[in-house]
Amino acid sequence: MQHHAIVTAGTGGIGLETALGLAAAGFAVTVIGRDASQGARAVERITATAPAHPARFLPADLASLDEVRALAERIAAEHAGSGEPLKVLVNNVGAMFSERRNVGGVEASFVVNHLSPYLLTELLLPTLSAGAPSRIVNVTSGAVGVAKRVFDAVEPPGGYYGFHWYGRAKLANLAYTLDLAARLDGSGVSVFAADPGGAATDMTNGTMADPRIVSPGLRLLWPLVRRKFARSTAGPASVAARPSIFAGTAAALDGRTGVVIGADAQPVAPFRPATERRIVAAVRRLSERHAPLTVA
Ligand SMILES: NC(=O)c1ccc[n+]([C@@H]2O[C@H](COP(=O)([O-])OP(=O)(O)OC[C@H]3O[C@@H](n4cnc5c(N)ncnc54)[C@H](OP(=O)(O)O)[C@@H]3O)[C@@H](O)[C@H]2O)c1
Repeated sequence: MQHHAIVTAGTGGIGLETALGLAAAGFAVTVIGRDASQGARAVERITATAPAHPARFLPADLASLDEVRALAERIAAEHAGSGEPLKVLVNNVGAMFSERRNVGGVEASFVVNHLSPYLLTELLLPTLSAGAPSRIVNVTSGAVGVAKRVFDAVEPPGGYYGFHWYGRAKLANLAYTLDLAARLDGSGVSVFAADPGGAATDMTNGTMADPRIVSPGLRLLWPLVRRKFARSTAGPASVAARPSIFAGTAAALDGRTGVVIGADAQPVAPFRPATERRIVAAVRRLSERHAPLTVA
């Protein structure tokens, strides 16, 4: 019986390297992305490394919560039909925008970095429970440190600065991750966060060079900030994927949950604000309001 893993945004960047690692560890991997030809190339590469359990591509724009719902429904039905276990879900999708964007009336970085992985996870919980012991890995970022820690609404007060808003959405997702781990404790479904550190990918090669992504204070120091960004995102995606691969596969994590895996692919202390009850409760309210599990 095949053990299955899913990697969102798994056709390029850190996600593809994560998928390669999971395939090498013995999983039949499904990668999710928007572009079918990129998906086909990824599948070819993954299957070449692990021909015994071929990979596959499923198309979905994970910025669309309707597409997330349809994707989850399809995956859940397939596993219910085949009886084959879903063992690992890596919520790797993430995005940062230079300018404010809306999707379905909600600011885009909050959708892509938090609401979308939240919704996919919640909808696949019965499938992951049926496949237990199983693991959920949510990809986080050091950018949580620059987040405005206000979660009364999807959008924080003040101007739009993509890096800070990205960090805030990642902080929401980290708070959800640790909250979910506590909720599922003892269920056989473990929940981890993995911080890739940094890598040169489409995401960082694009927006991280645009001074509009940082607040006016940091923009005054832009040459320094830009150099710091460039240094921290200079490495290969294959190295940045190690924390997710470790979280998804390491025997050292058997029976554990609620662990944050740092850029060195070892457990680290969670970023404390992600454990604050006020933030956890506010994120839960926002998630339930803006990403309902069913729609009329
Ligand atoms: N790179 C870094 O330095 C860094 C640092 C910290 C954290 N992270 C986090 O690590 C994760 C991966 O980052 P990355 O740098 O590898 O990102 P990336 O370069 O943007 O990832 C590219 C992959 O994402 C897919 N993708 C992008 N938008 C999508 C959407 N709306 N729906 C479905 N698939 C989508 C792309 O496929 P399609 O274009 O075909 O959809 C492709 O497979 C993210 O969560 C990111 O926040 C990255």
